[in-house]
Amino acid sequence: MNYCVVGLQWGDEGKGKVVDILAENSDIVVRYAGGANAGHTVIIGDERFALHLMPSGAVRPGMACVIGNGVVVDPEVLNGEIEGLSKRGISLEGRLFISENAHVVLDYHKQEDRLREEALGKNKIGTTARGIGPCYADKVGRSFAIRMADFRDMDGLYNKLVQIAEYKNKILNALYNVPPVDTESIFTKCRMYRENLLRYVCNTTRYLHEAMEQGKKVLFEGAQGSLLDLDHGTFPFVTSSNSSSLGMGAGCGVPMKMIDTFIGLVKAYSTRVGAGPFPTEQDNEIGNRIREKGHEYGTTTGRPRRCGWFDAVAVAYSARIGGIDEIAMMHLDTLAGLPELQVCRAYRIDGHETTFFPCDAEELSQVECVYETLPGWDADVSGITQYRDLPTEMRHYIELIESIVRTPITILGVGPRRSQAIFRNRS
Ligand code: GDP
Ligand code: IMO
Ligand code: MG
Repeated sequence: MNYCVVGLQWGDEGKGKVVDILAENSDIVVRYAGGANAGHTVIIGDERFALHLMPSGAVRPGMACVIGNGVVVDPEVLNGEIEGLSKRGISLEGRLFISENAHVVLDYHKQEDRLREEALGKNKIGTTARGIGPCYADKVGRSFAIRMADFRDMDGLYNKLVQIAEYKNKILNALYNVPPVDTESIFTKCRMYRENLLRYVCNTTRYLHEAMEQGKKVLFEGAQGSLLDLDHGTFPFVTSSNSSSLGMGAGCGVPMKMIDTFIGLVKAYSTRVGAGPFPTEQDNEIGNRIREKGHEYGTTTGRPRRCGWFDAVAVAYSARIGGIDEIAMMHLDTLAGLPELQVCRAYRIDGHETTFFPCDAEELSQVECVYETLPGWDADVSGITQYRDLPTEMRHYIELIESIVRTPITILGVGPRRSQAIFRNRS
């Protein structure tokens, strides 16, 4: 079986955990979009790993890890992750494959990201400041882009950097009056990146196709969430890649038809980091309670996540555009203790009810939520392993969402650990 795991909300749905679980039956794990803006948590025993660029399968010994062409690679972060894992006894030697076509995030991208956000003031996107937007912009612009393959020819890379710095300095100076990009210091760092990373760089499309022809099982790991998708998310409050499952084919060169099951990930409620419309947001005691109980603080930036009720209109939309076969719902344990729960089953726009999600940020900010209210539960479910043993109210909650979203919910998260997942069809 080849699986693709993708977030159906605004990110942080628990992809790290689910990928880690599914990796047990896979040979290769592939990241295909985003960059170091992602923060995927894997917990094994007492050890916690927060991975930003490395596929979450990396923590399993022997698992092959691919960073596809659709990822924007910050070599400093990736290098740090390889070293960090190595210090914890996890070596990537011989099992990490980085696409030669993946674009490289350099210091000036991060600087541009920060300066642009500062200039936007209250209209900022609330990016992670990891240089994601500027790097993808250079990729689309083509003329001033650096790819992993460029580390093979250091003279050629130097000449490119000189030309890029000349261009960027004119813009940065005119717009922000900041000191110029220092080509020499960037080039010095690039020498180190070459030293540490070049041996992993290859044609990952070829690698994946050959491996699949040999019958290897591949797990594709989405980053961010479908509602942050550049084309299908809540534009302009999105990331700069196709973070829904639609980005998978383009991001690694493997067609979607090779996937047996698309697993869409959700939390049992909603969260969002950064700016942008969030119809079910609870900027009140309920939101605070969910944030504290669920430890809803960014894995990458540490920012508090905005919290709210489950939005079935938004998730039905993500499931539909992403061709989702099954849903995994995490953080059911976090909702324990709330006397009543609300699920948004429709929006009211200009007095009319609709169940279709309007992804335009302006339109979405005008909607009124139509809620279904359900009784809560107050049991500790963290040790439960069978669906039938979950509280009746929780099962009703799950089944109501399933009927609105019209997709089976097959994996249930009752805690952050590997073992705290219930496989509903296997109970
Ligand atoms: P990702 O970006 O989708 O991989 O998610 P993050 O790692 O950024 O955030 C998810 C957080 O929820 C992490 O701290 C996980 O350890 C935690 N987590 C995942 N599943 C569950 C669950 O079922 N219950 C609880 N309480 N925590 C969970
Ligand atoms: P994972 O993979 C949650 C959000 C940022 C911001 C917007 C644009 O851990 O789920 P960017 O830096 O990409 O230009 O920021 O997207 N964002 C995420 N939110 N989880 C993520 O990744 C995110 N990656 C980006 O907060 O609103
Ligand atoms: Mg995350």
